Amino acid sequence: MKHSRVTARAHTNIALIKYWGKRDTTLFLPMNSSLSLTLDEFYTDTTVSFIDGDQDVFFLNGVEQPLEECVKISKFIELFRTQSSIKSAVLVESHNHVPTAAGLASSASAFAALGTALNELFVLRMDKQTLSTFVRQGSGSATRSIYGGFVEWQMGIETDGSDSYAIKVDDADWNIAMLTIPVNTRKKEISSREGMKLTVETSPFYPAWVEQAGQDIKAIKQAINNQDFIALGELTEANGMKMHGTMLGANPPFSYWEPLTVKVLQRIREIRGQGIPCYYTMDAGPNVKVICQADKADEIKKLLDQSFPDNTTIISGVGKDAYLLSVE
Ligand code: DP6
Repeated sequence: MKHSRVTARAHTNIALIKYWGKRDTTLFLPMNSSLSLTLDEFYTDTTVSFIDGDQDVFFLNGVEQPLEECVKISKFIELFRTQSSIKSAVLVESHNHVPTAAGLASSASAFAALGTALNELFVLRMDKQTLSTFVRQGSGSATRSIYGGFVEWQMGIETDGSDSYAIKVDDADWNIAMLTIPVNTRKKEISSREGMKLTVETSPFYPAWVEQAGQDIKAIKQAINNQDFIALGELTEANGMKMHGTMLGANPPFSYWEPLTVKVLQRIREIRGQGIPCYYTMDAGPNVKVICQADKADEIKKLLDQSFPDNTTIISGVGKDAYLLSVE
């Protein structure tokens, strides 16, 4: 049956073992497998409906988006349209749910929510694994937001990308939480897409990254299997730093770090030194995320808020799979 209006929700995810570099920029095939934690605190709700005319229309947080953004979304919708007998244009209405002004909205939850909604609107009935290969072609990290808990994006080896999909590794229901310390929430100057491209093309450290990431993913899956939080944290922190190291070797070199980033990292090491396990990671921006045990999250937040009163720490628990909120 053809639906008229479908709404889906997907949560964002933070990689513990990072995706950094593509082997195919058209199909979004990664150079290495990655592994993330889905967060319940940050998510995107997206409603899709058919409209007359031949142009897709895209609203984000109630604001119609410029042509450039619509073109990106249209290209993504086209992936679903070509699979279906329905050829109509689509109205996309997305709302990012992130704490006010935190500016932490991610393309991961955006494309995972949109893909989940389009799968239903176009009556494609793809299973989650297949859907993750479609979502991947909107933004690589979105591949992992199809599932909750700890999720691996397996890089695959096929040139058509059919085996480059997400799998759930674990529910992460063993006292896991993540903190976010917003250091600077302005739009970044170098997007992750541009940053990883420059790194792959110019950094002599890049081959070492690929090799290390391959080892780290095996080790972290072992840590998850053993519910060994300390090993999980140490691997997370080391992997994130290795990714940031590759950027200093790029030509021209670049870095997402700001002075306050360094202070936050130092403070987290101090808190750890006091006997509270907590480990940091960073993505393509200056904000810091900290993996910790859920029953220690309030205590760590209190210490961080005391040190950085203008950068209130946000606690997040573990998010679930992307899902449909309503189908009309
Ligand atoms: C540093 O998924 O934003 O956050 O695939 O080009 O859309 P595109 O890139 P994107 O890159 C995310 C990079 C990262 C690490 C990660 O999430 O694994």
